[in-house]
Amino acid sequence: MTLAYDDRGHGLPVVLLHGFPLNRRIWQPQAERLHARFRVITPDLRGHGESAAPAGIYSMADMAADVAALLESLQCGPAVIAGHSMGGYILLAFYRHYPQLVKGLVLVSTRAVVDTAEGRANRAAMAQRAEQEQSSRVAVEKMLPNMMAPAALAARPALRSEVEAMMATTSVNGIAGAQRGMASRPDSSELLPRISVPTLILAGTADALIPYAEAQRMAQMIPSAELHLLEDVGHLPSLEKPEEFTAVLQTWLHKIQ
Ligand code: MLT
Repeated sequence: MTLAYDDRGHGLPVVLLHGFPLNRRIWQPQAERLHARFRVITPDLRGHGESAAPAGIYSMADMAADVAALLESLQCGPAVIAGHSMGGYILLAFYRHYPQLVKGLVLVSTRAVVDTAEGRANRAAMAQRAEQEQSSRVAVEKMLPNMMAPAALAARPALRSEVEAMMATTSVNGIAGAQRGMASRPDSSELLPRISVPTLILAGTADALIPYAEAQRMAQMIPSAELHLLEDVGHLPSLEKPEEFTAVLQTWLHKIQ
């Protein structure tokens, strides 16, 4: 698997995994601030951004294995790993398979539970439409309106365009493969009480894709979890409220370091 990534700075490795159908640019505000004190590694997951986009179903375990292989090739020791949304599903798979590589977890706008039957059907339909049309337009159409809080979407046209461009440039194989992989992901709820590393959970109170009640539920189940809710923020907190997001992450990183 060929993955595009940025690797900047020195110190405790901090790996940031983006969500669907986005790419490593969602972490730009955080990477810019954190690389002065930490080694910040931001991959594009398979099928997304500038990484390879093979055909097939992208299981969360396979995507976690891509990240493990990247960290090994970078000779990176145990890392704090953050995952946004689908990146969070991958992160929970990563922790299940490679706990020795994890110093801390940051779960952003994500959940441990599986999809409803309706959610799975929607994913199958999006994968099929992307393949039929040979275009990622369906992902933009279905997801852009819900990606950010309405106020951010309306008031920040440049941010809206940037997010739209990220989605539009995600490959067809990436959209179909990730949707089918997410639809068949296992429930990670039983893992939560067994997480033994410091964990930070972040979510926006205006998230229309994954209700922040999921973050509260995970915080109750993970022994060492700290929960931070971002007011009036939608599904993309790293870009909607970059300063607050970075400040919370940075403070927590210094605390657990
Ligand atoms: C994401 O942002 O990664 C997606 O909304 C996750 C999902 O579709 O469940």
